[in-house]
Amino acid sequence: MADKMWAGRFTKETDERVNDFNSSISFDARMYKQDIQGSVAHATMLGECGIIDKTDSEKIIEGLKSILADINDGKLRFDPTAEDIHMFNEAELTKRIGDAGKRLHTARSRNDQVALDLRMYLRDEIPIIKSQIIELIETLMKLAEKNLGTVMPGYTHLQRAQPVTFAHHLMAYVQMLLRDLGRLTDTYKRTIIMPLGSGALASTTYPINRQRVCDLLGFAEITQNSLDGVSDRDFCIELASALSILMMHLSRFSEEIVLWCSWEFKFIELDDAYATGSSIMPQKKNPDVTELIRGKTGRVYGDLNTLLTMMKGLSLAYNKDMQEDKEAIFDAIDTTKLCLTTFIPMIDTMKVIPENMRAAAAKGFINATDCADYLVKKGLPFRDAYKITGTLVHTCIEKGLTLETLPIDEYKALCETFDTDVYEAISLDTCVMQRKAAGGPAPECVEAQIEYSRKTLEQFR
Ligand code: ARG
Repeated sequence: MADKMWAGRFTKETDERVNDFNSSISFDARMYKQDIQGSVAHATMLGECGIIDKTDSEKIIEGLKSILADINDGKLRFDPTAEDIHMFNEAELTKRIGDAGKRLHTARSRNDQVALDLRMYLRDEIPIIKSQIIELIETLMKLAEKNLGTVMPGYTHLQRAQPVTFAHHLMAYVQMLLRDLGRLTDTYKRTIIMPLGSGALASTTYPINRQRVCDLLGFAEITQNSLDGVSDRDFCIELASALSILMMHLSRFSEEIVLWCSWEFKFIELDDAYATGSSIMPQKKNPDVTELIRGKTGRVYGDLNTLLTMMKGLSLAYNKDMQEDKEAIFDAIDTTKLCLTTFIPMIDTMKVIPENMRAAAAKGFINATDCADYLVKKGLPFRDAYKITGTLVHTCIEKGLTLETLPIDEYKALCETFDTDVYEAISLDTCVMQRKAAGGPAPECVEAQIEYSRKTLEQFR
């Protein structure tokens, strides 16, 4: 077991079970770079402010850099019995440079150190997730541009409702993803606030220069209250929340893909490289990727719930409960990245089957609203037109016909206003092309939407 730095006050060794239970190195070792970077800045500042000797400061920085290089090269392995990555790095430093290493922790606590490391870790991850979302948006917009005229049924209650285009449907997800980018950008702003110097909870009596550490580490500003500086985890919760919403979007999309690649829909066919087979049923081609994304969404929600629940009863300032923050937020980040990594190429390679989309739109009286609107445009009140069309639909169902195939005499028998131009008015293409209010599915509107979205996207690069 690694020697305890706080051993002085104790007369007994820590029980091995407590040591294992207490240790976080198995999951916080991944912050080793951030921990070293933070310590380098701290040591630089301590030297500049005359809190430690310049030569000690230099030795510390050298030592930390050699540790970083050795971890990166696989020459130095994490000690699984160490309490956490902060203790591990500090102990290793002292092993390498002797007494100067013992001066690194002057005017610092692990409480402000861990808050700093975590903020730095998240600040590195957020842009990676943002760039994945950008890639997904670009993939969707490219697909939308190819499908501006691909008519498909739009649904409410999963019942065919009114015709839209595949491009329009895809662009709905682009809007969601643009909001996800907005949320991540916003979270990032509150992540890049520098907590070091908060000390254990009540700052420090040493004449430190917090702004210098802030500048060295490229943070936007310093935290304003030392109690809050060490015990704020809002930035984790905000990120987990933004990721939960993002996952919810991916999950809804996944659910639609599961439907679309079923034989009942067959709107798309997944590429063989992004589908899986069955161990018993030779005919099967399953959309496992999308189902896993749907499933993993629950996991990310769980991470958010873990964080919220973990924080809700904590008195100020640091409490050990907060060590639980890392596994939750790391899992939310890892899971989201993993999902995006497979989802993007799966979308990029799937085959769209426009004929099937159109055939589905041609059934189910998807043009009934347009039939009523036809009468309204000829002067009837909407409610009357609605009722007449409802009766027509009923007649069609009884006769096994559609509004397109119902003879004009049947139309006229119900309402004199009908004429043969009704067939043109209720044709699928007319139904889509005429829906040209801003935000609608008419190709020119979707083109405008793509244009607008492209501009919005530029803000996030
Ligand atoms: N491993 C700890 C954590 O992740 C570091 C802070 C420990 N601070 C303390 N006072 N025990 O939260």
